[in-house]
Amino acid sequence: MLHPLSATYLADPYATHEKLRTEQPVFFDTELNMWLITRRQEIETVFKDSKTFSNALTTAPIFQLCPHAGQILSQLSGGSMVSLDPPDHTRVRKAIASVFPMTLAQAEEYEPIIRTAVDKLTKNLATKSNVDLVPEFTWELPIIVILALLNVPKEDVKQIKKWADGRLAITWGNAPEEDQVKAAYGMVYFWEYCLQLVGKRVKEPGTDLVSKLLNYRQGRDEIVTIHEIASMIFSLLIAGHETTSNLISNGVYRLLQKNAWNQLVNDPEKISKAIEEILRFDSPVVCWQRYTAKEATIGDVTIPKGERVLLLLGSANRDETKFENPNEFDLERENAHEHLSFGKGRHFCIGASLARLEAKIALKALLTTFPKMRLADSFQPTYVPNVAFRMLQSLPVILADE
Ligand code: HEM
Repeated sequence: MLHPLSATYLADPYATHEKLRTEQPVFFDTELNMWLITRRQEIETVFKDSKTFSNALTTAPIFQLCPHAGQILSQLSGGSMVSLDPPDHTRVRKAIASVFPMTLAQAEEYEPIIRTAVDKLTKNLATKSNVDLVPEFTWELPIIVILALLNVPKEDVKQIKKWADGRLAITWGNAPEEDQVKAAYGMVYFWEYCLQLVGKRVKEPGTDLVSKLLNYRQGRDEIVTIHEIASMIFSLLIAGHETTSNLISNGVYRLLQKNAWNQLVNDPEKISKAIEEILRFDSPVVCWQRYTAKEATIGDVTIPKGERVLLLLGSANRDETKFENPNEFDLERENAHEHLSFGKGRHFCIGASLARLEAKIALKALLTTFPKMRLADSFQPTYVPNVAFRMLQSLPVILADE
């Protein structure tokens, strides 16, 4: 069994993954009531076969961990684009792709917004010598960028973060019953917020993503409904936030822990390549879900129809058949970018370019402003108990020794 919320596993899931790849590449985990797939090649096969492996329950709570939230959420409308299968997914993704910065060149149009946010956050840090980078830097940047894309008031940041945190905790965590219920009902308000935002843009269109999506609908036979546009906002506000925060904090942590910070201070041109190795080594999304729409055979194991399947992306990224010395953090690794941290196939992450750009600008600012940064002496990494998202609870650093 995986025991994905145990302290030992959270501290180092990769040791467990390695054992599973050898001994039980595909198996039924009775604790999670799900099938687990651990090897790179087989996970890739699943990503490519959306007829057999549906996304319908991809963001549904792991019932064994969050039964109370699961019951409430199953009665809510709303939902997210990642939970759609073709043909709806194809139609909705086509609409978002027409307005969202999917390529690096399109993402670069948002560079001024990212730079302004990074400069402000870095300046705040520069007034201090010891800081915890999680609350003081990494969590805020991605949400500022998404709010700018949607032209949502900055005052809403804290409430949106609360909803997004709640959603992750009740989907992939094991919050106490009271917190599950509270967070699940929070989704009612979050959904209402997304619908209201669309309503505002219908009345007063602007140049933001929602207005562009509403405009996209004009004169088309293929309709994207108001409900679907609200779902896209819901998805962006959740998917684009914690993931990118974790990429930056996992990245800073590993660069400092593995004595690679200095390497990048001396050669900042290597940042983009380093980001791929960070994504491979410590994927912000370590596990992801599918659901068997029909019986499936993976290797010599048959998974019946109607079963939930957990893909261990963190394990795929350390698979020795793909990556040489996979447990080494190697900034020179040529094929690091072949990780599966953004998925693969029709649901490949639409925010990959934006996340990479945000991480690049953020890391460059931190490396340039704080070349002597180091981990606080007492620091022992602890991770938020979550099956899917690899999130450091804190990242205390010394910015510069006096
Ligand atoms: C899809 C990871 C950043 C929006 C995905 C998927 C993964 C992923 C693994 C595939 C889901 C599947 O196959 O079912 C990540 C990571 C990120 C990141 C590791 C940061 C390091 C972002 C950002 C945004 C975003 C910045 C938007 C602002 C989405 C959306 C989907 C998605 C909307 C669904 C795409 C679809 O269903 O076609 N992401 N993501 N992500 N991501 Fe990201």
